[in-house]
Amino acid sequence: MRIIVTDSYEEMSKVAARIVAGQLYLKPNSVLGLATGSTPEGMYANLVKVHQSVGLDFSEVISFNLDEYIGLDKENEQSYYYFMHKHLFDHVNIKPENIHIPNGNPENLEEECKKYDKLIEAKGGIDLQVLGIGQNAHIGFNEPDIKFEATTHKVKLDEETIKANSRFFENEEDVPKYAISMGIKTIMLAKKIILLASGKNKAEAIYKAVYGSVRPDAPASILQLHQDVVVIVDKDAASLL
Ligand code: GLP
Repeated sequence: MRIIVTDSYEEMSKVAARIVAGQLYLKPNSVLGLATGSTPEGMYANLVKVHQSVGLDFSEVISFNLDEYIGLDKENEQSYYYFMHKHLFDHVNIKPENIHIPNGNPENLEEECKKYDKLIEAKGGIDLQVLGIGQNAHIGFNEPDIKFEATTHKVKLDEETIKANSRFFENEEDVPKYAISMGIKTIMLAKKIILLASGKNKAEAIYKAVYGSVRPDAPASILQLHQDVVVIVDKDAASLL
């Protein structure tokens, strides 16, 4: 693991955007694994800026998002579909047919999960995966568990996650209880991974990810076994390292 500690959230966002932009310059048809949450918002804003100022090209990019809530419509402002369009896709020249986000309202959930994994495989796997981290060290929506879930699957969200994400909803009861998430194996098969975190409330999770024992009750700890992970954290998130 390479660890980059930045002075601020803004700096963390710039470093992350530079890595993504570098990836696209080197391989314009990269397959990107993308994350939601408040952490990568600044990174997306920087990527949009680079697209608008010097024409960073997304025309051949293929994207796969990590996760989606189950039961929210695409038009719901809290859906990850809505988030990704608002923060990135509506502002760059990515082709709509190259955007993939798990369908949170599928007719057949099992089929949807299988289809998602097959599609990622068919596109050659993920070149660069962007990750945030939950306070309980979840990645995507892979919650602490007794085993690492390999493939795309349905998740029952932890109370802690529901509480943490309720800041985006009017009431805590409005937060969906279930989600669909890419599995640990798919994430680990990405050729390169960047993990972003900012703020004191992520310090413990980052400690577990970097130095904790590798165990499924701290899902991000598995990243220690990957050969190309860059952890980009501000000094608050790095405060326990
Ligand atoms: C959410 C997402 C994760 C994200 C995490 C942290 O539940 N499923 O992909 O990394 O929680 O979110 P935030 O960046 O808002 O703290």
